[in-house]
Amino acid sequence: MCGIVGYCGPKNCTPILLDGLKRLEYRGYDSAGIGVESEKGPLVVIKRVGKIAQLRAAVPPTLQGHCGIGHTRWATHGGVTDTNAHPHQDMSGKIAVVHNGIIENYGPLKKKLEQEGVRFASETDSEVLAHLIAHYYRGKLEDAVGNALRQVKGTYGIAVIHLDEPGKIVGARCGSPLVVGVGDGEMFLASDVAAIVSHTKQVIYLSDGELVSLSASDYSITDIDHNPIEKSVDEIQWDIEEIEKEGFFCYMEKEIFEQPDSIARTLSGRLDIEYATGKLGGLNMTSRELLAVRRVKIIAAGTSWHAGLVGAYLLESLARIPASAELSSEIRYRNPVVEPDTLYFAVTQSGETADTLYAMRELKRKGARVLGICNVVGSTIARESDGGVYTHAGPEIAVASTKAFTSQLAVFYVFALLMARMRDLSFIQGQRFVEELQGISAKVRETLAQRDRIQNLAKKYYRARDFLFLGRGIEYPVALEGALKLKEISYIHAEGYAAGEIKHGPIALVNEETPTLIIVPRDSLREKTLSNMKEVKARGGPIIAVCTGEDEEVKAIADDYIPIPAVDELFYPFLTVVPLQLFSYFCALELGRDVDQPRNLAKSVTVE
Ligand code: M6R
Repeated sequence: MCGIVGYCGPKNCTPILLDGLKRLEYRGYDSAGIGVESEKGPLVVIKRVGKIAQLRAAVPPTLQGHCGIGHTRWATHGGVTDTNAHPHQDMSGKIAVVHNGIIENYGPLKKKLEQEGVRFASETDSEVLAHLIAHYYRGKLEDAVGNALRQVKGTYGIAVIHLDEPGKIVGARCGSPLVVGVGDGEMFLASDVAAIVSHTKQVIYLSDGELVSLSASDYSITDIDHNPIEKSVDEIQWDIEEIEKEGFFCYMEKEIFEQPDSIARTLSGRLDIEYATGKLGGLNMTSRELLAVRRVKIIAAGTSWHAGLVGAYLLESLARIPASAELSSEIRYRNPVVEPDTLYFAVTQSGETADTLYAMRELKRKGARVLGICNVVGSTIARESDGGVYTHAGPEIAVASTKAFTSQLAVFYVFALLMARMRDLSFIQGQRFVEELQGISAKVRETLAQRDRIQNLAKKYYRARDFLFLGRGIEYPVALEGALKLKEISYIHAEGYAAGEIKHGPIALVNEETPTLIIVPRDSLREKTLSNMKEVKARGGPIIAVCTGEDEEVKAIADDYIPIPAVDELFYPFLTVVPLQLFSYFCALELGRDVDQPRNLAKSVTVE
């Protein structure tokens, strides 16, 4: 949710920290701050409410230093104020700490420290760390951090500096990601590689319980008790250009239009043409083990859950395996029954979503085999799962997930093909499926060509206060996804429903002012969905239909329509979601919203 960046080395750290924070802004963006060991002596901490631009404006151009830390915040404990922004300091002003996560026992810790005379400046849980580290400090920052963290319950990714040990950053993680960037005579620490990829591609992903000490020329990693840990250095596989806007107005637009390529990347090398099946090496399962799977359960949140719902539908219809997708925030606090022949998937773009991570851990404790479908390489869920598949959609910066969704779908299509071919699907049917999947990127590109029509529709409808999104069968999760997209970036109230359900309640919402967006491709449920369209029309509701080509029957009922190319009916979700993404995007633009960083949201939700 929040972002951390740190630098020690020969360069001036101030611009490096500010640029790094700018790259992390998508993770949390209500306030930000930096702490710099200034050349002139004191530790300078500057914090501002608002975007990084506000912080940048507050930082004097003369501020120079060779070691510093920075933070972009998404408030949990304490309101959005300059004081509550990070870094937090101890009373001597020598220590500065930035923290991602939540200190659950900060109440009793704070009370104890206050009894010892400590005065707190902020309302945050994080400030407790600065005072606790000061309490234990005896001349070695690593020891003080280790001792302080032993008192803490909760989750953290932290970076700490101390004026008495200039040029040193100590970091530690437990439940909140942290990565070390190894440069040439310089070192970086960040919560996300996006902050440092322009400086180095050599990184070390820290695991929970690890503590790192950085100087310009060296690093050492230990556990919290200071036992040394050997870690491998990984290379980031993507370039800085991938996190630039490349001429698009914003990241969301770029990511929507990138989908033909991101889907192709996901599928690359994963289709076995000769045997008309899927190839997914990272599952870490033999064919025999896969054959023994009797049920698939998918856990995820938000957009990833919608992809999981499509995946479950597909697995059931194509591979004839009972499958379901559940919200990780729900499963986490249930007492789920884990059966030995059930295979679980944790689906997540970020690989850090707390609900999904904790649900996965609970399932694993009960003996489940949980595979990950993750986009972020080296993320916690990717590393803790029993195997899995990277989506390779590339970095997704906009808070509203788009290309990650279609890449998650692509993984499910390959997996369903693999499972189906081991069961009932013939070679010829498999070949047809492979051909359709290979052609899907081009069809997505064709769908994107409807951009101008969709923008015009957004201009016509953006003033509506409420929207209904309807779809049936495999299109039902797409309707949910369309409603989520519209809500999160335009703040227009939207409900996603299974089209057949409207007569059980939501049809009461239909009137002249409430448009309904219906997904009605040429599939075997089209007639049923047409009936639902008529029901809406009969009650005066304006209808925008997403349909296959120039569907005259649809056109006769709908007020407006968005044509998409024809595909085999199981493949429509790849196409039908695209107009919904674009429609939400253009509505948000019309309303002057901050598309990439909508209010109250953060890219990856690492807290409950
Ligand atoms: O990183 P994850 O896929 O685990 O994130 C799950 C949700 O938080 C995420 O999909 C969220 O709903 C997006 N903002 C949707 O656009």
